[in-house]
Amino acid sequence: MSHPLAEKKVVLGVSGGIAAYKAVELSRLLVKEGAQVYVVMTENAKQFITPLTFEALTGHPVYHEIFGGEASASMEHIRAAENADLMIVAPATANSIGKMAHGLADDPLSTLFSAFAGPVLIAPAMNDKMWSNAAVQENLRTLKKRGVEIIDPEAGDLACGTVGLGRLAEPERLLTVVRKGLLRQSDLSGLRILVTAGPTREPLDPVRFITNRSSGKMGYALARQARSRGAEVTLISGPTHLDPPFGVTLLNCQRTGEMAQLVLDHLPRCDVLIMTAAVGDFAPESVQKEKIKKNGEKSFMLKLHPTQDILKEVAQQKSNQVIVGFAAESENIVQSATEKLQRKQLDLIVANDISAPGIGFQSDNNQVVLIDRNAQVESLPLLSKTEIADILLDRILGQLNER
Ligand SMILES: Cc1cc2nc3c(=O)[nH]c(=O)nc-3n(C[C@H](O)[C@H](O)[C@H](O)COP(=O)(O)O)c2cc1C
Repeated sequence: MSHPLAEKKVVLGVSGGIAAYKAVELSRLLVKEGAQVYVVMTENAKQFITPLTFEALTGHPVYHEIFGGEASASMEHIRAAENADLMIVAPATANSIGKMAHGLADDPLSTLFSAFAGPVLIAPAMNDKMWSNAAVQENLRTLKKRGVEIIDPEAGDLACGTVGLGRLAEPERLLTVVRKGLLRQSDLSGLRILVTAGPTREPLDPVRFITNRSSGKMGYALARQARSRGAEVTLISGPTHLDPPFGVTLLNCQRTGEMAQLVLDHLPRCDVLIMTAAVGDFAPESVQKEKIKKNGEKSFMLKLHPTQDILKEVAQQKSNQVIVGFAAESENIVQSATEKLQRKQLDLIVANDISAPGIGFQSDNNQVVLIDRNAQVESLPLLSKTEIADILLDRILGQLNER
C-alpha cells in the first residue's frame, strides 16, 4: 500500500462541535496515508469525543489539557506538534475561530495554534446562523489575511434540524486539501513570481475615470498560493478592495502606463510573470485638469487612444521567463485565446468565458480553459479561484521542469 504522506507530521485540532466525529475519520485517513498525526482538543471537544479514540487511532498522546495530565507534563509531543508540517482545525467552532483570530490562548488548541509557525487550514462547522454571523465572518477574514486557508463548509442538513450552509466538509475533501498542502509545500521555493491583478484606471478629469469590473481575486489568489508554496512573490495591483496576501510584496498602480513600467522594471528579476490584470485597452487622449462640466451640450465626444500593450513589450524584453496571460472572451474561447497566445508569444494562456453567468469577474469561482504553447487544451471544471491558482502553478512548474 502506498503512503504518500510518509514522514509528514500533521496537527489535527478538534473543537467542540457536533462534527467532531468526522475528525475521527480524518485522523484515520491521514494515518492510512502514512502521516504522523498529533491531535489537540479543546476541553469542550471532549464532550463530543474522547481523547482515547484519537490516541488509539494515531498512536500518539492527545494534547487535551493545559494543566495536569501526562501530555502537559512531558511537553515532548507538544514540541513535535509545534514542528509539524501542517495544522488543520476540523471542526473549527465559531468560538475557537474567534480565539484564533484574536490571539487568545486559554485551551490546548488555541495555545498550540498561537505557537504554530507552519501552514494552517481551518475547516469551520456550525449552524447556518452562526456561519453568517458578522463577527464570525470578520474573524475568518482576519485569519485569511494572516495566511490561514479556510476550507469552506458545505450546504446540507445541519445537526440543529435546519438545512443550510455550515456542514463540515467531508473527511475525504479535507484529506485532499491536506494532501495538496503537504505535497505542494515549498515546491516553488527559490522561484521569483511576478503577478499583476485587478483593473487599470484611466482618468478623464480629477474625479472621473474609465475602468472595468475586474475584482483582482484571481491575481490575489495566485499570489497567495504561490507564496504559500514557497515562492518569492511580487504583486502589481490596480485598485481593488482586497487585503494584500500575507508575505507578498504589493506594488499599487492605477494607469496602464504605471502598470507597464512596474512590470518591465521587475521582469528581469523574475522567473515567472502571470498577467491576470484586466488592463484597459483604451484611455482618454487627454486628462482635463479641472472637472469637466455639463454646459447644456446635446452630446459629448470623448476621444480615446489605445493603451500601451504590456504583453507585447514583455515579449520583446523577456529572456527565459515563463509568461502566462489571461484572456476574457465572450465567443470562440479556445480559438481567440490560442491566437492571443501566439501573438503575444506566451507560454500558457488561461481563457474564460465572460458571458457565462455567475463566474469570472467579481466571483470567487471560475471555469477556465488552459492552453499551452504546444496547443494542449485543458478544460477545468467550475472551481474556486484558489483551486485554479494551484492548478495553474502546477502547470507552470511543469513547464519550468521541462526546460
Ligand atoms: C450539541 C451541541 C452541538 C454544538 N455544535 C456546534 C457546532 O457545530 N459549531 C459551533 O461553532 N458550536 C457548536 N456548539 C457550541 C460549542 O460547543 C460552544 O460554542 C463551545 O463553547 C465551543 O468550545 P470550543 O471552541 O472551545 O471547543 C455546539 C454545542 C452543543 C451543545
